[in-house]
Amino acid sequence: MIDEVKERALSELSLINDAKELEAWRVRYLGRKGEVSKIMKMLPNLPVDERREVGRKANELKEILEEKFEEKRREIRKPKFEPIDITLPGRPPLLGRLHPTTKILREICEVFASMGFEIVEGPEVEWDYYNFEALNIPEDHPARDMWSTLWIDYEDPSGKTPMLLRTHTSPMQIRVMEKRKPPIRVIMPGKVYRYEATDATHESMFYQVEGLAVDEGITMADLKGTLYEFSRRLFGKERRVKFRCDYFPFVEPGVEVAIDCFICRGEGCRLCGGSGWIEILGAGMVHPEVLRRVGYDPEVYTGFAFGMGIERIPMLRYGIDDIRLFYSNDIRFLRQMR
Ligand code: PHE
Repeated sequence: MIDEVKERALSELSLINDAKELEAWRVRYLGRKGEVSKIMKMLPNLPVDERREVGRKANELKEILEEKFEEKRREIRKPKFEPIDITLPGRPPLLGRLHPTTKILREICEVFASMGFEIVEGPEVEWDYYNFEALNIPEDHPARDMWSTLWIDYEDPSGKTPMLLRTHTSPMQIRVMEKRKPPIRVIMPGKVYRYEATDATHESMFYQVEGLAVDEGITMADLKGTLYEFSRRLFGKERRVKFRCDYFPFVEPGVEVAIDCFICRGEGCRLCGGSGWIEILGAGMVHPEVLRRVGYDPEVYTGFAFGMGIERIPMLRYGIDDIRLFYSNDIRFLRQMR
């Protein structure tokens, strides 16, 4: 009989899904006049030897039914829809960051702008004429080997010289001088391209900032003063600056500019390769032949120009050991920039 009650109670319970039915069920089986009670009340009338066995089973039944009842009650009370908890903190919106190249470009531009330089931009696909010819690098001249070039397969109907992805920002010197009359004081940031197998220190696309100043009476002293000021503003005011002879076809004389290493202050460390100096840019006095070609009289006007790679600066500053990280779109790298 006990087994029969248990089976009936559990199968009824399994069909219940609201609190009212559940209460009725509880009264029916576990209530004061319920099935379990009835069994308990029968016990005294049983023969002593049966009483113990039936009593144990009746208690067991009561426990099971109470347990199942609690289970069901919890199940019914659980809401069907998760309510919106308006006290939860909101999800912070994802904030973008400036790319390290953008940051350093802005910093550089700011320094030169404060010295009176205007910012000018120009095309990344360039004519051979501006990239090489007008810069004193004629066709078949060995100086072209200084730049590994990406040529564009395009014949201009007007018979203009071939096109390429500019290998440096120097063609902008010519474009600006063609359009304007001195005095000229401009900086020209932008992307440049090289036909290059990439490795930790070479990318086929990177950024340069070009500078140009042309006027009457500009001398090497102006070049030195400007770049000296720039170096101190960008790398710290105690910086020392070194000018060494270098060759670029479009300047004469040409120099390479180095600053004393801002880590070891010139003593020699890993960053500067033990030399104590870090090369940051190429520069020089604009070649008279270049001035003549844009119609400036080199007897009247003189000027200086400089050009620098951009990525090297944050690489040195933050100890970034692979230039390819800049343009591989790895958010983990970019996210580190403040
Ligand atoms: N255009 C040169 C380069 O890419 C740098 C440079 C610019 C040198 C201007 C002198 C004057 O290496």
